[in-house]
Amino acid sequence: MSATNNQFTNIRVFISEIPEGVAPNKSYFRTVTVTEDKPVLEDGAIFVKNAVFSLDPYIVYDFSKGNKESSVAGFGIGKIIDSKNPTFPVGSTFFGPIRWESYSVLNKEQELSQSVNLDAGLDKELPLSVYNGVLGLSGFTVWDSLRRLGNLKKGETIYISSAAGTLGQLAGQLAKRQGLRVIGSAGSDEKVTFLKKELGFDAAFNYKTQDKREALIAAAPNGIDIYYDLVFDNTVEVALDLLNTHGRIITVGALAMHQNQGIAVPRNLINILMKQIRYEGYVVYEYYDQWEAFWTEVTPLVRKGEIKFDETLIEGGLDIVAETYDRFLQGGYKGKVSVKIADL
Ligand SMILES: NC(=O)c1ccc[n+]([C@@H]2O[C@H](COP(=O)([O-])OP(=O)(O)OC[C@H]3O[C@@H](n4cnc5c(N)ncnc54)[C@H](OP(=O)(O)O)[C@@H]3O)[C@@H](O)[C@H]2O)c1
Repeated sequence: MSATNNQFTNIRVFISEIPEGVAPNKSYFRTVTVTEDKPVLEDGAIFVKNAVFSLDPYIVYDFSKGNKESSVAGFGIGKIIDSKNPTFPVGSTFFGPIRWESYSVLNKEQELSQSVNLDAGLDKELPLSVYNGVLGLSGFTVWDSLRRLGNLKKGETIYISSAAGTLGQLAGQLAKRQGLRVIGSAGSDEKVTFLKKELGFDAAFNYKTQDKREALIAAAPNGIDIYYDLVFDNTVEVALDLLNTHGRIITVGALAMHQNQGIAVPRNLINILMKQIRYEGYVVYEYYDQWEAFWTEVTPLVRKGEIKFDETLIEGGLDIVAETYDRFLQGGYKGKVSVKIADL
């Protein structure tokens, strides 16, 4: 912190509008430096020094009051530097929803209910950025959604869309460890090779250059048992046709929607009846009491290299966050992308 004793310098990112159908490139963002009074926290609130931002397929903004620009929020890791909340004491390591800024105050119930004190699971031998990815909200979502909704059985076949992304990578590996045949799709040949060669997927295809139905039939001639949907586009129509009796669709992500692309409007929902398919959505925030169980099981696998993960850590100022975001949305990176703006 700089400026006077009662003031500090904050750097903030604003977005001017959300373009239709394309990812916002850096021209939509503006970074400003402001001097602010140190916050006086209300009960339950925390003040966080932000350190490592997680780039996720969606950002949170607010143009509701006719604002010409909005602050941008995502998730990230920081250090609690002031607190009126016993769950997040001063000095603890924080993960949760933070605005793209150097320091954040969190006092809304919703923000705090999506936040985690990482100290309960922090493995100092691993890079902090893994708590944005494989050992963070993404990893926890996959681990919990698969065990809660998947009913995975050895010998079954699972198909994962956006398989080279943060959630997809772990979903494939956890399913493989339980003896399933794992098929994934991704948006480049390099990612497809990575899924097969590095992560041990049994089959993978490039959904941008191959017909999904043909590719899936070739990869799973006996049909699929589980579709782990991270995209929520019309791939689900193909999956509904190819799912076996008692198949499951686990809907976890909506990448197509985040980018204002066409979302799922399946015309063959009758398959749910005919094949007794279970089609279920999952949202992680209801299950936050399970974080420690997740870390107990998955941290040793990550440490031993039994679960692999691919992530990119970019270091720089807050303007780098906005620049990186565009390339990230275009599929320019494999796996988790984090931007480090400060040490903890
Ligand atoms: N339900 C929950 O509780 C929960 C929790 C966490 C995350 N999520 C959701 O899970 C989804 C996946 O998250 P993630 O962090 O793992 O994202 P991600 O896969 O890392 O997202 C980026 C990748 O998405 C792919 N992509 C973008 N648009 C696509 C499209 N229209 N069709 C197919 N692939 C597309 C791109 O890869 P390609 O090169 O392969 O196209 C890009 O690299 C997101 O929707 C996220 O919001 C849900």
